[in-house]
Amino acid sequence: MANHIPREFIQQLLSQIELVDLIDARVPLRKKSNNNYFACCPFHTEKSASFSVSQKKQFYYCFGCGAHGNAIDFLMQYDRLEFPEAIEVLAKQAGVEIPRQIPSMESPKVSHNSYELLASITQFYQQQLKQSQVVIDYLKQRGLSGEIAKEFGVGFAPSGWDHVLQTFGKTAQLKQQLYDIGMLIKKEDGGYYDRFRERVMFPIHDRRGRIVGFGGRIIGKGEPKYLNSPETPIFQKGHELYGLCQAQQANQHLKHVLIVEGYMDVIALFQHGITYAVATLGTATTTHHLQRLFRYTPEIVFCFDGDQAGRLAAWRALLVTLPLMRDEIQVRFMFLPDGEDPDSLVRTEGSDHFIKRIQQAVTLSHFFFQSLAAQTDLSSMDGRARFVKLAKEHIDQLPEGIFQQMMLEELAKRAYITDIKQLKPITKSSQPRVQKARSPSALRLAITLLAQQPTLAQHIQCALPQLNVRGFDLLREMVELLQRYPDLTTGGLLEHWRDREEGKTLAKLAQTEHMIPDDGIKNEFLGAIHRLRKFEQEQIIEQFIAKANQTELTTEEKHKLAELIHHKNEAD
Ligand code: CTP
Ligand code: MN
Repeated sequence: MANHIPREFIQQLLSQIELVDLIDARVPLRKKSNNNYFACCPFHTEKSASFSVSQKKQFYYCFGCGAHGNAIDFLMQYDRLEFPEAIEVLAKQAGVEIPRQIPSMESPKVSHNSYELLASITQFYQQQLKQSQVVIDYLKQRGLSGEIAKEFGVGFAPSGWDHVLQTFGKTAQLKQQLYDIGMLIKKEDGGYYDRFRERVMFPIHDRRGRIVGFGGRIIGKGEPKYLNSPETPIFQKGHELYGLCQAQQANQHLKHVLIVEGYMDVIALFQHGITYAVATLGTATTTHHLQRLFRYTPEIVFCFDGDQAGRLAAWRALLVTLPLMRDEIQVRFMFLPDGEDPDSLVRTEGSDHFIKRIQQAVTLSHFFFQSLAAQTDLSSMDGRARFVKLAKEHIDQLPEGIFQQMMLEELAKRAYITDIKQLKPITKSSQPRVQKARSPSALRLAITLLAQQPTLAQHIQCALPQLNVRGFDLLREMVELLQRYPDLTTGGLLEHWRDREEGKTLAKLAQTEHMIPDDGIKNEFLGAIHRLRKFEQEQIIEQFIAKANQTELTTEEKHKLAELIHHKNEAD
């Protein structure tokens, strides 16, 4: 949905929000100097205040942990909202409507009633459960307490084809809506019937606590054992995690989150005090799932069956995780004894034992090397070569950083390689690429000053030079953007680079201390641009000279070169 919100609107919205007030309402700020506010950072534990908020830049930055951004980023990080949700909150605060680029007729209709409708249906199922002794007995026999059933909103869809249809589908429009949210199935003749019949119902909440779908378990034996709501405009299985909403409510800070397989696993663990388990919804873990979880916790522990299928599933999960492995996060794997799942295990051996198992979960690197070692013969040289090749392919995909370095060291150790340089990752920076000249320091200065004081762009009188150096495209894009939107603050400027690599560079530069007094900034900036122009001339001269070394220059080119050199000497 994010894509459909026009950029102009987002910029406009950012300009209407006062970042200092937004943050101050959540994290009380102290005024330090003109326009600058400080607090202890809400994103890491600290005693001295390294979290700074600049009113002028509409931008925050933590000198301790590097957290940074504009009003949207703050809501995403602090209130753990998704991008479109942060926009929604800000729009509401500013009292404006979010325009959608796609006409609303084409976009999936998500009336707020859909959530209310699902909430009412959940209540209906809960009512039905109260009246069905057989089902209560079934849940009791599975060890579920009434309290926990209530906490998770467990209910019962009675047998019969049209309970939901009759109770909630009184008009054609409601029927259509029930169908849209997956509660009804269409018959060939155009009529409808209830999707869920004679099943224990587990409502699925999104992370804002709204019910978006159901899982339904058959009572006793039968196929399919679990029936889930289909994907709908408000329920995407690759995004939602069962139990996350409850885990969040039960824990102020999630030290770690356990990913298990099933509904009953989450509930049983919760009942035994392990209130930080979530389950994917009959699908494999996706990047979305993990990205979402890492907003809540620095550590994920995957829990799998100990059998062959479990190990395979774990390996797949590992592959999804690898590209996300930044230095500050941890991923571990635990394997359960054959034939057990967390539900059965925590009931038979109790939570203390289960927690021990969590503590003993192996690290991602351990599981990684162990799995690869199992496929290769480390006692032979060929085997070790294969081992290194397989491992390297994956390690090269890791984000550059300490974790990648550690994985390389571990690989070297395991393959008996003494010179770790042999394993140097094939990173973006060492991959062959069109060689660009080193960027002049004037470029860095120009970008830094512009990031800190976007209005400077208005002072550039002539066209920018054309430079073939790293980082120059960034400056050009900034200037073009700022000439189009002269009122952007630093926070607004950075919004344009959301999700792009250069955004991080920009954020850093936006915070760099440059020691230039306020009244000298404009001149420094124009001076930097001037030096870039000279740099451009030198580049052209160099190109001519390089060409002259290979072939004879045309008369015209010779003239041009002479002129350039003359010009250069004059300017110096
Ligand atoms: N699942 C599913 N559809 C199925 C089978 C399983 O969506 N037909 C999902 C459910 O989320 C289920 C999980 O996979 O909870 C694990 O399945 P399974 O191990 O078969 O069930 P359990 O969770 O052990 O369920 P129970 O303890 O109720 O037998
Ligand atoms: Mn089970």
